[in-house]
Amino acid sequence: MRILFVTSECPPLIKTGGLADVSAALPVALAERGIDIRVMMPGYPDALDRADHVGPAIPLGDLPGEDRARLLPARSPDSGMPLWLLDCPRLYRRNAGPYQDLDGRDWPDNDLRFAALCHAAVRVAYNAAGLGWRPELIHTNDWHTGLVPLLLADSARSRPPVVFTIHNLAFQGLFAADALPLLGLPGDTFSPEGVEFYGRISFLKAGLRYADRLTTVSRTYAREIQTPEFGCGLDGLLRQRSRHLLGIPNGADYGLWDPAEDSSLPRRYSLAEIGRKRDCKAVLQCELGLDVEPETPLFAFLSRLTEQKMADTVAEAVPWLIAAGAQFALHGQGDRALEERFKALAEQYPGRVSVQVGYEERSARRLLAGADVLLHPSRFEPFGLVPIYALRYGTLPLVRKVGGLADSVVDGSTSNVDGEATGFAFSGDTLEDLLGCLRRALDTFGQPVAWRRMQRHAMRQDFGWRGPAEEYLNLYRTLAESRAEQDF
Ligand code: ADP
Ligand code: GLC
Repeated sequence: MRILFVTSECPPLIKTGGLADVSAALPVALAERGIDIRVMMPGYPDALDRADHVGPAIPLGDLPGEDRARLLPARSPDSGMPLWLLDCPRLYRRNAGPYQDLDGRDWPDNDLRFAALCHAAVRVAYNAAGLGWRPELIHTNDWHTGLVPLLLADSARSRPPVVFTIHNLAFQGLFAADALPLLGLPGDTFSPEGVEFYGRISFLKAGLRYADRLTTVSRTYAREIQTPEFGCGLDGLLRQRSRHLLGIPNGADYGLWDPAEDSSLPRRYSLAEIGRKRDCKAVLQCELGLDVEPETPLFAFLSRLTEQKMADTVAEAVPWLIAAGAQFALHGQGDRALEERFKALAEQYPGRVSVQVGYEERSARRLLAGADVLLHPSRFEPFGLVPIYALRYGTLPLVRKVGGLADSVVDGSTSNVDGEATGFAFSGDTLEDLLGCLRRALDTFGQPVAWRRMQRHAMRQDFGWRGPAEEYLNLYRTLAESRAEQDF
C-alpha cells in the first residue's frame, strides 16, 4: 500500500515537540511492515541542509504565496526514510523557527505557508507533479495539514481517503477570513458547517470536518476532546464525528530513547545494571552546579514552558520542594515570563535549583538519566512522550491523570508500591493537589526497596511502536477497502 504522510516536522531535520518524534518513528514502523510510505514536509533551511538529497527537483509551479515551488526528493539521514521536501524559498527559507520569528511571534503568513504544503500534497495525490507515484491513502497531521482533506473533498475526481491525526487540539491554525481566496479555498466552505470558527478560518476544523477518519494519540484524549472541558470549542463537531474518531496511542522509539544504548550518557545502564544510574546522577549534579548528593531526590522538568504543561504551578511548587530537601532541574523553553521566573528561582536557590533555558537533545537525555522523578503535571496532554521515555530511564514520572498520561502511568500510592506501579499520578489542578502528590513521591523515595521495585517495573514497560503501527495498518486497510468498493 502506498501512503503519503504529510507533516510539518520530522527530526533530525526539524523538531519543536512530540509531533516530530512521531513523524520520524511511525513511518519507519509502517515501512517495516511493508508499507510504501513517503514523508512530505516543508523545506525549512535546516531540513534542506540536513537531508540527503537523492534526485533532481520536480517543479510544482504555482502554490499560494510561491510561484516557483519544487519538490525535492530526499532521504532522512538517520533512517533512510524517503522524503519530499517542499521547496518554497519565499515561504520557508527563513532563519528562525518553523512557525515563529526570533522574537517568538507567529510568522504573519503562516496561512499561506501551510496552505502551500496542503496544495502540494493534493497535487501529489492526483499525480499532477508527474511523480509516477500516487498514494492510495494520505495521512495528515495537526492543523498545518488540515486543508488537505478539504481540498480533496472539494474535487469531483476519484481521490484517496484521508486520515487526520490530532496531536494537539489547542493548536488550531486560525486566520483572518479575507485570506480565503489567497489560500485557494472555495468560498462556500466559509460557514459554520465548513471551516469557519468564530469568524475566522480554522485549518484544524477543516481537517476535523472533511477527513475520512480522525485519530488522536491516546484513548483517553479521544474521549476527553468530545467534552466541553477539553474540546477547545470543537467538541460538538467531534461528537458528531465520533463514529469516525479513534484513539491510537503513540509509541516510544527505543532505538533512540534507551539508557542502555544512549551515547549521550556519561554511563549507560540497563535494568540489569540499574545501579549505574547513580553515576549519571552524580555527573548531572556536578554539571548543573547542584550539590553532589546521591541521597537527595532530584526532580526534573523537561517540557515546553507553557500553560499546557502546568509550568506555572510547577514554579510555585519549587520552594516547597527545596524546603522538603529535594533538588530541582529544568531544561526547556517557551513562555518568556515563565523562563524568567524559573531563572529567578535558580538564583534564589544556588546548589539546589538548576535552570537551563533552551532545548538540546543531549542535555535532555542526560537530565532524564540523572534525575529520580520526572515532573509532568499537564493541564491536558494528548499523549505525553517524555513520561514514557522517563519510564525506560528508570526515572519515575509524576503526572496528572489526564489524556495519555492517565493511560501510561500507574500510580504508586502507598497501597500499590508492591503492585504494578510505575510512577505517581494525581487528580485536581491546584498547587495543593500537586504538593500532595510530591509528598507521596518523597515518602516513597525514602523507602529504597519500594523505589527500586517501582524503577524496575517502570523500565520493563514496553511502549514500542509495534502495537500502534498495527492499529494504523488496520485503519488504513479498512479505509482503502471501503474506497475500493465505492470505486467499483
Ligand atoms: P509535546 O509534544 O506536547 O511537547 P511530548 O512529551 O509528547 O510533548 O513530546 C516532547 C518532545 O519534544 C520530546 O522528544 C522532548 O524531548 C522534546 N522537548 C521537550 N521540551 C522541549 C522544548 N522545550 N523544545 C523542543 N522540544 C522539546
Ligand atoms: C502533541 C501533544 C503531545 C503528544 C505529541 C505527539 O504535541 O502535546 O501530548 O505526545 O503531540 O503526538
